[in-house]
Amino acid sequence: MKQHASTRRLALALAAAFAAPLAVAATPPREVAPRYDASSHVFRLDAGKVTYAMGVDPDGRLQTLYWGARLAADDPLGPATPAPERSSFDPKGALSRQEYAGWGGNITAMPALKVKFDDGNRDLILRYDSYRIDHGALAILMRDVKAGVDVTLRYTADPATGVIGRSARIENKSTQALTIDSAAAATWSLPSGSDYSLRYLTGTWAGEWHLQTRAITQGATVLESRRGSTGDENNPWFAINRGGAWNEEHGDVWFGALAWSGSWQIRVDEDILGQVRVTGGFNPFDFGYRLKPGESLDTPVFYGGYTADGMGEASRLLHRFEKASVLPHGEQAKLRPVLYNSWEATEFKVDEAGQEQLAERAAKLGVERFVVDDGWFGARNSDHAGLGDWTVNRTKFPNGLKPLIDKVHTLGMSFGLWVEPEMVNSDSDLYRAHPDWVLNFPDRQRSEGRNQLVLNLAREDVKAHVFEVLDRLLAENDIQFLKWDYNRNWSEPGWPQMSPDEQQKVYVAYTRNLYDILRRLREKHPGVEIESCSGGGARVDLGVMALTDEVWPSDNTDASDRLSIQDGFSQAYAPATMMSWVTGSPTWVNNRAMSLDFRFLSSMQGGLGIGANLLTWSEADNTTARHYITAYKAIRTTVQRGDLYRLLSPQNRAAWSATSSVSTDRKQAVLFAFQRQGEEARAFPTLRLQGLDPVARYRMRFIHGAAVPGTPEVASGAYWMAHGVDLLIKGDFDAAGAVFEAP
Ligand code: GLA
Repeated sequence: MKQHASTRRLALALAAAFAAPLAVAATPPREVAPRYDASSHVFRLDAGKVTYAMGVDPDGRLQTLYWGARLAADDPLGPATPAPERSSFDPKGALSRQEYAGWGGNITAMPALKVKFDDGNRDLILRYDSYRIDHGALAILMRDVKAGVDVTLRYTADPATGVIGRSARIENKSTQALTIDSAAAATWSLPSGSDYSLRYLTGTWAGEWHLQTRAITQGATVLESRRGSTGDENNPWFAINRGGAWNEEHGDVWFGALAWSGSWQIRVDEDILGQVRVTGGFNPFDFGYRLKPGESLDTPVFYGGYTADGMGEASRLLHRFEKASVLPHGEQAKLRPVLYNSWEATEFKVDEAGQEQLAERAAKLGVERFVVDDGWFGARNSDHAGLGDWTVNRTKFPNGLKPLIDKVHTLGMSFGLWVEPEMVNSDSDLYRAHPDWVLNFPDRQRSEGRNQLVLNLAREDVKAHVFEVLDRLLAENDIQFLKWDYNRNWSEPGWPQMSPDEQQKVYVAYTRNLYDILRRLREKHPGVEIESCSGGGARVDLGVMALTDEVWPSDNTDASDRLSIQDGFSQAYAPATMMSWVTGSPTWVNNRAMSLDFRFLSSMQGGLGIGANLLTWSEADNTTARHYITAYKAIRTTVQRGDLYRLLSPQNRAAWSATSSVSTDRKQAVLFAFQRQGEEARAFPTLRLQGLDPVARYRMRFIHGAAVPGTPEVASGAYWMAHGVDLLIKGDFDAAGAVFEAP
């Protein structure tokens, strides 16, 4: 066994070096030292409140030994032993909890990696070879017994949150080519149990982020996207609870999120021994990645965490990790500015005069960023034409964008622009010039979605073109923000320029090239922020989040629907990234009318924006809007950088919803409460805050609404947390917002 242990600081460095999205991770975390105990053959990662351990069994399998609450440094954790033979059908080792199993030998458990060599061999037996520790990251080399394939497993552990990052590099060390049929980033294993349940997110356009729960029983649950991008049918996040008593505040929760924006899969298996495995990475569906001798493939990073303190703490840990270690500027990230976007007001009918008029109105309300959405370029008067032609439409903007941009800047706002760079309308100059640039199988149909086709970003010429177009746009215009949209799934994902056996590399190369474009644009234009939008929330994951500053959770801006959408979103992703607009009433979504108060308070749970037609707002509306925007600016640091506590869940169309956010210094808390529907004269439930300093004294003031008579203005944190507050909320679509401040 070789050892090259040089333990230095953890910088999530290994993941950053190989898994591109993390390369922009900001603040270097504190020291964490993976440890190896040669006598028991056990590896340990201790970080935050978590211990993760694995051991090498006598046959060389690397087995998961433990993942859970932090243990004493000298607690015995090993040695690993192979699962005993149960019967001839389940021979020795077949059901061992392997960290990263190759499909080969007598394995019956779900493997992480499956390959086939050109000579027909499909047997892959990965056994421990050696390890190294570098910059606090652990790398374990696993080798096929015949030296055909090397797999380097990489582990990082974040000392603040205990979040562990895992990925794999697969190298063809043989003298012949092989094809990877499936490659996971990691398998997470939980010990035998009969009372696990799985939480996951499902959705569809305008209905994203539904939180689902199901018992984990024998058999598999597959969460996935086969769509070419992250998708909203499932999101690459999971949480597993144990026992019947878990809730927001209590119970064991293991959770994870995959940093990948292409087709992905997370598969949750319970085997015949009751052991649970969560295997996630590239979606094996239609996968086929060819490696010639000497070539390698890096998987995305699969992050995982644990808490004993319920779903609320699981989310907060993930939020903290995202804010400090995933988002491009980490803890130095700017606060989300209050934004205006006219999409719902004007749709494609954007022009210089109209946008200037809206900009003037927006600035008077206190808006800080003005964004021109779809319709400013090419022949883009509807979604039928123009996509791909990123030159300013001179009918709508006769003098280019400069006069509008100057005006927006003069009004004290930054300027943003909508783009959808990965797509093309068939009715566009770009498609007419380069019909071969889209994903397609020769002489087969090219299915359209929203009248558009997907540019094959895996092609180097397409990648170069997309980068060049955006680079020029940003160089020639004084732009501070791009809303980067992506409005359809893949279909017919052929890459005819490649040899048939290399074509399926498109699933990896496309997403890697997307990341590369984003990274290079950020480097060259560091003042530009980017939002990831995909017809709403269909591209939200830790991969794209590492290269963007915010995301758009849903096109559904109905403030009542949004409560559930935002609640579901917050299970996995930080409110700091979540944009939310106040739009018109009644809503286009449900024809539902809601007060401006309800709409503002709902949108203030994330990054506040306005998407209504401001030309129709009365002076009274403007006064209301100014009030909320001023109030928002005084609390946004807490909402965006603080800790989120979900007090009442709006899931499953519940009548009530409430959240609170607590600033990192615990001096400010913000409470939002909503009633969708009043019934039987019932009072709104007493809200008990969480996360306050029990001995500090907090003064309560209302942004909107009131508490029942007799409620003190000033009381201890203990009082607000144990006694709680009763709000006067009555009727349909009533809401309240309150701020608690300690001197
Ligand atoms: C998508 C986005 C919307 C809007 C339109 C423009 O649907 O999600 O916010 O930008 O495209 O075409």
